[in-house]
Amino acid sequence: MLSIEEIKNKLDGQKYLCNEDLAIIVSLASLLKKPILLEGPAGVGKTGLAKALSASFNMELIRLQCYEGLDESHALYEWNYQKQLLYLQTVAKDLTSWEMVQKDIFSRDFLLPRPLLKAFLSEKPVVLLIDEIDKSDEEFESFLLEALSDFQVTIPEFGTVEANSIPMVILTSNGARDFSDGLKRRCVHYYIDYPDFDRELKIICTKVPGISLSLSQQIVDFVQELRKQKLRKKPSIAETLDWAKVLTALNVESLADEKVKATLNFILKYQEDIESVSTLKL
Ligand SMILES: Nc1ncnc2c1ncn2[C@@H]1O[C@H](COP(=O)(O)OP(=O)(O)O)[C@@H](O)[C@H]1O
Ligand SMILES: [Mg+2]
Repeated sequence: MLSIEEIKNKLDGQKYLCNEDLAIIVSLASLLKKPILLEGPAGVGKTGLAKALSASFNMELIRLQCYEGLDESHALYEWNYQKQLLYLQTVAKDLTSWEMVQKDIFSRDFLLPRPLLKAFLSEKPVVLLIDEIDKSDEEFESFLLEALSDFQVTIPEFGTVEANSIPMVILTSNGARDFSDGLKRRCVHYYIDYPDFDRELKIICTKVPGISLSLSQQIVDFVQELRKQKLRKKPSIAETLDWAKVLTALNVESLADEKVKATLNFILKYQEDIESVSTLKL
């Protein structure tokens, strides 16, 4: 089992700063060999966790980006039609029975593994990121549930394929829809919220070279205050980072600087939000 301290230190080394709770989740998931289901608003480090884990533990990152209409063939495998056709035109013409041909062209050599199968076929365990699963359909979710429950998949033409290694699976969701109880049960479920002041400050100081402590404190203070307001879209870590970089590039030393107002569009994405906060004291 990976210790919580070890996980935190390794992720720190990749400039991914997580809280104790998330480190515990990663540790438990690795112990139980269960997928992690991360929910939370956009830009709080869900995708980032998978990337950081892959880099920290030197495991290949295989990513399946979900979208509406995503189906098994794009997630699991496709037949390499071109290769099959070429085979039919060349080698297969000398084969006597159609059964033999069929056996050949529907063998592993003609398979194009897509992310899920790629992860299962890998000799070394990989990090399998199934990103934004809330964008996929419920039908796909059930298929996934089955594949992830026993780490094997069935390919009708040649049977069941068991995983060579159990991947570290991270599923993420921005909460566009709810999941079945089955999926939640199968996974270690965790909600990533916006960071607290100290962690956000640490992220800024780590990721924005040359920023002063005083400016980063003001930025984080302001952003944390913004998140308490009623906004159409609250700023996430991604926006705080962008804003901090912009203000540093403009040589701003304090939020009282005249230039700051013109940069609010880096943390707020809707004009109505910008207008509603322009009355806030910067
Ligand atoms: N815990 C964290 N430590 C360091 N950087 C973070 C952290 N969480 C988020 N970030 C930064 O915020 C940005 C958005 O994170 P991302 O993982 O893409 O969010 P999500 O997948 O939740 O929408 C990334 O550029 C990442 O560098
Ligand atoms: Mg993401």
